[in-house]
Amino acid sequence: MEVKKYNTAITGVGMYVPDKVLDNKFFESIVDTNDEWIQTRTGIKERRIIEDGATSDLGARAILDLLASSNTSAEEIDVIIVATVTPDMFFPSTACLIQDKIGAKNAFGFDLSAACSGFLFALETGAGLVESGKYKKVVVVGADKMSSITDYTDRNTCILFGDGAAAVMLEPNEDIRYGIQDSILRIDGSGWESLRMLGGGSKNPSSHETIDKKMHYIYQDGKAVFKFAVKGMADVSVEIMEKNNLTSDDIAYLVPHQANLRIIDATAKRMGITNDKVTMNIDRYGNTTAATIPLCLTEYYRTGKIKKGDNLILAAFGAGFTWGAHYLVWSME
Ligand code: UT7
Repeated sequence: MEVKKYNTAITGVGMYVPDKVLDNKFFESIVDTNDEWIQTRTGIKERRIIEDGATSDLGARAILDLLASSNTSAEEIDVIIVATVTPDMFFPSTACLIQDKIGAKNAFGFDLSAACSGFLFALETGAGLVESGKYKKVVVVGADKMSSITDYTDRNTCILFGDGAAAVMLEPNEDIRYGIQDSILRIDGSGWESLRMLGGGSKNPSSHETIDKKMHYIYQDGKAVFKFAVKGMADVSVEIMEKNNLTSDDIAYLVPHQANLRIIDATAKRMGITNDKVTMNIDRYGNTTAATIPLCLTEYYRTGKIKKGDNLILAAFGAGFTWGAHYLVWSME
């Protein structure tokens, strides 16, 4: 068996969330809902939306925050991977637009589409590029302007989503006790109909009809997704623990995708993890799709809760269906 010389570690974090807050009272004024329903069914109190700007603006600001806090210049970046389902446009890629905005003149990059699992899929891809030996500084950013595809007359979906972005820097790491240790990632396209945006693509190019039928908005069969999400996220989280001989006591934090507090609680319960060891920001940001996990990592690291040597399980579930888990040992002081 080949002996691993190095693996991939997160060496920097950064985030951006817009200032404009939509609280539950706001939704009471536009659709038939109430604060109590939203909080008990989802755990959400507020979400943020960007009023002037696109996904590339969210992503660029998150990366600039990462660079400033890690004393790194944009020219040092080799790769930019943007996990998003709300690219500024079909092409050019949001990665290109971000590259230009931040002045990363030595980078290549691309967008990756895996909905709420986007950050984990991009982490896997970025780690592969680092471990190829060819790239030293790979930025993975989860960025979504969910307000651009949300139907604010549909109470089933509009209360769920928010805008935001967060980024991590990936670099080779010689002390292989730290960094990304393992991953389990899955897709199952048979679930595609339960959570999708039908219009604007090659199947249903934009037309007056697609607009009239509101096909440019998110559609979600909440119940169906909920059922698969609870099982999918918990299954891979438990599997990755068992595969790496981890007990719940060994884990410092479960860092789950923030779609619904009840899905998060069910996952933690299956893993035997108590609530104090689960990162949470759904109450303030709602579901920011590809941004939820790196937002949690950034906030929990910056407030001193995630520390060097901590065992973390990152877990996500999203449209596709897509889902997965990573096991990593935090390496930043
Ligand atoms: O991030 C990507 C993956 N996405 C997810 O993981 C989301 C998974 N799904 C969910 O989180 C939940 O299914 C929702 C939060 C979307 C919905 O919660 P639920 O407990 O599954 O509610 P439901 O869809 O079964 O609806 C229950 C009732 C319905 O009324 P009836 O038919 O029982 O009379 C809905 O019409 O709640 C109603 N309802 C609402 N009521 C007040 C749906 N949305 C609202 C609302 N306010 N905003």
